Amino acid sequence: MNSALQGRKKESWKIFDEIAGTYDLLNRILSCGIDVYWRRKLLKNLPQRNNLIALDLATGTGDVALVLAKSPKIEKITGLDLSRGMVELGKVKVKKAKKENKIALHIGDGCNIPAADSTVDVVTISFGIRNFPDPQKSLREIFRVLKPNGRVMIMEFGLPKNKIVHAVYMFYFRHLLPFVGNLLSKHRDAYTYLNETVEDFAYGDDFTAWMKEAGFNNARFEELTFGIANLYIGDKE
Ligand SMILES: C[S@@+](CC[C@H](N)C(=O)[O-])C[C@H]1O[C@@H](n2cnc3c(N)ncnc32)[C@H](O)[C@@H]1O
Repeated sequence: MNSALQGRKKESWKIFDEIAGTYDLLNRILSCGIDVYWRRKLLKNLPQRNNLIALDLATGTGDVALVLAKSPKIEKITGLDLSRGMVELGKVKVKKAKKENKIALHIGDGCNIPAADSTVDVVTISFGIRNFPDPQKSLREIFRVLKPNGRVMIMEFGLPKNKIVHAVYMFYFRHLLPFVGNLLSKHRDAYTYLNETVEDFAYGDDFTAWMKEAGFNNARFEELTFGIANLYIGDKE
């Protein structure tokens, strides 16, 4: 792993504090709206039972929590993130959606989860674990807080396998996306950090190997949009 990037990940939440105001808009623009469809995939893969207690790590501005709140299977969602700027914006969105009875957002670390053992049915992370300083510790923590029969669902960027799609995407991802992202967010390199962290991070079978090491059974993944993102699922049995 790139050691300069590893250093930045210890305080990556500071970058998100700085770009919180433009984060949602840039997500929609830079993904052409596909991120909305990706997040909805989480609903389809919820465990088949009711009264689920959910925990969304790196919740950011709360988009995953708001999607999960649509499911009648979910009783309560706690969202945790280290960026106060992102969490405060998320709280405004939760209030506007009138979901305060179902969603609570707090400051909290995905590598040291402030929850007791075996207390959560579903843990989600979307586009967050790549930013954690110790993703493998986070996976062990998730395993710890999940109840038996609990499920983790992690959405994270990957890189397309198809050679033509890969070539086109890499041009967009290495040049166009950082240029537009840094310009509109008025941040010197937040969107350069995005493509560097993705290219430096485990994906596909390498990531499911980490999930298995953390104790998850049946760790698997589904490629989304040519593998630009992957949805990883693992169960605690
Ligand atoms: C790319 S955003 C994803 C936000 C949201 N899940 C989404 O899908 O839009 C990554 C988030 O990870 C958060 N983050 C970084 N390190 C963290 C950590 N150790 N614990 C919790 N959150 C962290 C950042 O503050 C940021 O809000």
